[in-house]
Amino acid sequence: MLNNRLLYGGDYNPEQWLDRPDILEEDIRMLRKAGCNTVTLGIFSWAALEPQEGDFRFQWLENIVDRLYKNGIYTIMGTPSGARPKWLADKYPEVLRVDETGHRQMFGFRHNHCYTSPVYREKTALINKKLAKSFGNHPGVILWHISNELGGECRCPLCQDAFRRWLKERYRTIDELNRRWCTTFWSHTYQSFEQIEAPFTIGETQLHALNLDWKRFVTHQTRDFLRHEIDALREGGAKQPTTTNLMHYFQGLDYFKLAKDIDIVSWDTYPTWHKEEVLHTAYDNGMCHDLMRSLKKKPYLQMESCPTSTNWQSVSKLKKPGMLFAQMMQAIAHGAEGAMYFQVRQSRGASEKFHGAVIDHYGGSDTRVFKEVKETGEVLGKIGELLGSKVKSSVAILYDWESQWAMEDSQGPRNKGLHYMEVLLKFYRGFRRMGANVDLVDEEASLDGYRLLACPMVYMFKEGFAEKVRSFTENGGTVIFTYWSGIVDDTDRCYLGGVPYGLQDVLGLRSTEIDGLYDDEENSFIPVKENALGMQKTYGCRYLCDLVQLHGASAMMTYGADFYAGYPAVTVNSFGKGEAWYVAADADSDFYDDFLEKLVIRTKTAPILQGSIPDGIEMTTRETEKGCYYIYQNFGTTALQIPMPEGELRTVYGNPSEKLPVYGMVIVFQEK
Ligand code: GLA
Ligand code: ZN
Repeated sequence: MLNNRLLYGGDYNPEQWLDRPDILEEDIRMLRKAGCNTVTLGIFSWAALEPQEGDFRFQWLENIVDRLYKNGIYTIMGTPSGARPKWLADKYPEVLRVDETGHRQMFGFRHNHCYTSPVYREKTALINKKLAKSFGNHPGVILWHISNELGGECRCPLCQDAFRRWLKERYRTIDELNRRWCTTFWSHTYQSFEQIEAPFTIGETQLHALNLDWKRFVTHQTRDFLRHEIDALREGGAKQPTTTNLMHYFQGLDYFKLAKDIDIVSWDTYPTWHKEEVLHTAYDNGMCHDLMRSLKKKPYLQMESCPTSTNWQSVSKLKKPGMLFAQMMQAIAHGAEGAMYFQVRQSRGASEKFHGAVIDHYGGSDTRVFKEVKETGEVLGKIGELLGSKVKSSVAILYDWESQWAMEDSQGPRNKGLHYMEVLLKFYRGFRRMGANVDLVDEEASLDGYRLLACPMVYMFKEGFAEKVRSFTENGGTVIFTYWSGIVDDTDRCYLGGVPYGLQDVLGLRSTEIDGLYDDEENSFIPVKENALGMQKTYGCRYLCDLVQLHGASAMMTYGADFYAGYPAVTVNSFGKGEAWYVAADADSDFYDDFLEKLVIRTKTAPILQGSIPDGIEMTTRETEKGCYYIYQNFGTTALQIPMPEGELRTVYGNPSEKLPVYGMVIVFQEK
């Protein structure tokens, strides 16, 4: 977005300080001092921009944008729909949401407007158009930030009508809907679309297909609102690209779909550093970055992160010295074109007054946090050449919102918890500790370019997915499935005739039964003697154990206990030019570490280095046409020696010949 400069700065709320011109002056001085080049403005400014209906006051914002620009600081301009002014809620109560108990909400909080309301749409379009007229061609405004953390649901009559229309479009006839939703169960058959209600806690909750379609509708309607906002900006003459800030695995929206409507993905990250092992948190946050990058498979932005502690987590932990730097650099390593904070200046009152900020209530630049912000800004200023390089992955993990929604909603083998996200992370860690870049893809994604595809707990096989995996494997790809995959179709109807649906010949097996284990129960994976993969250790497994019958696949490991001791637990089948693996139970992470290490080597999906990556180091690569950047970060507990690729290298940052200090970074470049 900025030539040769990674974006650095954060959310800035000058509307809270309009009575303090001295502070507004000081903010600019401090932003410059910290090496910031960008702020996000206007997100929660509606009441300051339109204090009375139709009375628009933009002068203060124009002054600030101009002053920032003169000082080399660019603006990402927010549209204010995330929090509406009181007059709007008072005069037009239809803009307030109806919740899952059927109650209309009162004015308050934020992110709680009805996306369907024609009045809300009219008012947002009006202010967006006016903002576009003022800032749509401003050289200092580089990006539009639509609303804020879109999310939530409304069940008002308008939204329910829109839902019925959406269903009619999707199923055409009520008979077809009844068939796909299996409504004969408990006599829930509908006679017309008009009878359908959204899921309510005081109404229908047990029709899984209704719940699933409602969630799909919420994504559809939110996208419609998002497009409505963007259309208004374009009508007002805005030329700049658009973004909206996402929240990694947020369960309220299918981000793969939503991302289609914006130009650039951005997201907000608040990892609980220092709660668990730092490396674990780094992998967790790394996987979120990779998911966000994978939404459009394009460079993205870290829109928010906290320079120190937040005020909303159960315990507000300070970032230990160096962590702020490591967190910001991790975004860049994973492919971001900028790393920003929430927030520039700490608010004085209300709910976020104790949330960390670049400038705290004391206000000086001689604070620990400000110094680290400044040092980080200096480094970002030096590594601008990374702009334009991209993370490329040969490994993908399948992550599909709709499949997860259906799986978590269905009553099945383990209502106490399926531990799905943990399984994803075990796979991710297994790949990343080898230095393999990882994309996350949904069932609709193209698999071209990947060589190794992991499909943990892909409960729902949507139309066409099994065929896609079949040809991926046939053409030489390696695929790994786990237990609880291919169970239902896209309206959550169970497949008949054996599962995993459509892939039993590819995997060379059929899943026959699945055992749910109590929390304190355990089983184990025992290596089959002289197995081709060379697995030698015994590993624990828990929570879910799938019993499979082999039809061509061979077992590498078997269960160690219970009546299914000796049954296959890890299997492989050759299919076409490729291989299909199956992991039958929720194995402990040491299993994944060893198993995936072997598969990454077998499929040559990680860069070759002189030595293995020590535990604690995260290594990512970003490529250009000319060559490759190797980025190393230490999320361990001691300084570590890092393995370099062979051949001539140029050092971009840090000192590759010394041990890499904790939270430090090294970047080297190798020409192709
Ligand atoms: C979210 C919001 C911000 C702010 C931060 C606090 O990410 O987008 O406005 O409230 O949380 O951590
Ligand atoms: Zn509504």
